Amino acid sequence: MIANRMNLRVLGSTTAIAAVAAIGLAAQPVHAVDWGGVDTHSIFVFHPGQASWEWVLTPGDHRRRAVERFRDEGRNCQYCHRHEMDLLAVIATGDGDAPEPYPFDHRPGVVDLDVQASHDGERMYWRFSWDAQSDGGDPMDADHPARVTVFFASDAVREATRAGCWGACHDDQRGMESDTDALDLTMYLAASRTQITRSGGGENYRSDSELAELISDGHFLEYWQARLTADGGVLPVDGYILERRHESDSPAVEVELEEDGDRRVVTISRALAGDADTRIDLESGNTYHGGFALHEGGTKGRFHYVSMEYSFSIDSDQGDIAVMGQ
Ligand code: HEC
Repeated sequence: MIANRMNLRVLGSTTAIAAVAAIGLAAQPVHAVDWGGVDTHSIFVFHPGQASWEWVLTPGDHRRRAVERFRDEGRNCQYCHRHEMDLLAVIATGDGDAPEPYPFDHRPGVVDLDVQASHDGERMYWRFSWDAQSDGGDPMDADHPARVTVFFASDAVREATRAGCWGACHDDQRGMESDTDALDLTMYLAASRTQITRSGGGENYRSDSELAELISDGHFLEYWQARLTADGGVLPVDGYILERRHESDSPAVEVELEEDGDRRVVTISRALAGDADTRIDLESGNTYHGGFALHEGGTKGRFHYVSMEYSFSIDSDQGDIAVMGQ
């Protein structure tokens, strides 16, 4: 049964590639990758409500046993949640354990996301495909129907290795449960603060020199994003997260969008070598840790779909996703 489903998946994506290739003849992509030979990872992303890092670590908010197994027994989120789609799908409707004061039912709680990754010795390429979702006539961001983001860190960011996105999602950020409106905090890592409580790290910032040292130790998350525009285009966006989210003025990533009916197909690529302190060198044999986020149906801010933690490794199968050369 599982093998059957996987075959269908592979067939499905091959068909999509054929259709896209036919459309693509007029405008050849700058970097041609043969996606037909690259494994497709069919994962799901779900709406997490206001379940912050602090929420998942607090017994009684998150299931007590889950917290114990995560904190004391070293079990990562995927250990329990790899197949828990139904459980996580109800957060969007407000029926989950995770808080969601603005439940919605005209968008799904879970979206299937197909992920592929490859490199050609010069650049690394991600390819994402998923079904466009309706905004129900009520987009939060009418200019951007969708955004897909991959973020990653070296193993210096321990919480990213254990919990992906949750390492950067705190209870006092914009729109979260402990947001006071006064702070307007974007995503940050715990190491950027001198103190963190159940409501997050607030403005307990470490000094500039301490933050600079964290960056030189590789203690930050890098992110690459393809931001779809209402006129059918796509914008490259990248940056890093430490004491807040920093968006680059001149992104190093390149993006391409090919829409095939309701299917959105996006590639994001960047040179393997990082050209700044806050751009990670992607080296053969190394493993990187992070996850994926999808804003679909015209959503913005925290109203995205996220994955649990995923790792990828260049030229090796040590991570969840092997990024092999071609
Ligand atoms: C030992 C297993 C286990 C681990 C490890 C674990 N969880 Fe959970 N998680 C659960 C269980 C059990 C529930 C509650 C199920 C229910 O509500 O019926 C839950 C609930 C949740 C919910 C709320 C679901 C809802 O319907 O509202 C979220 C979000 C969540 N977990 C995220 C995480 C994240 C993020 C991590 C890693 C930091 C993690 N979990 C680690 C077992 C686990």
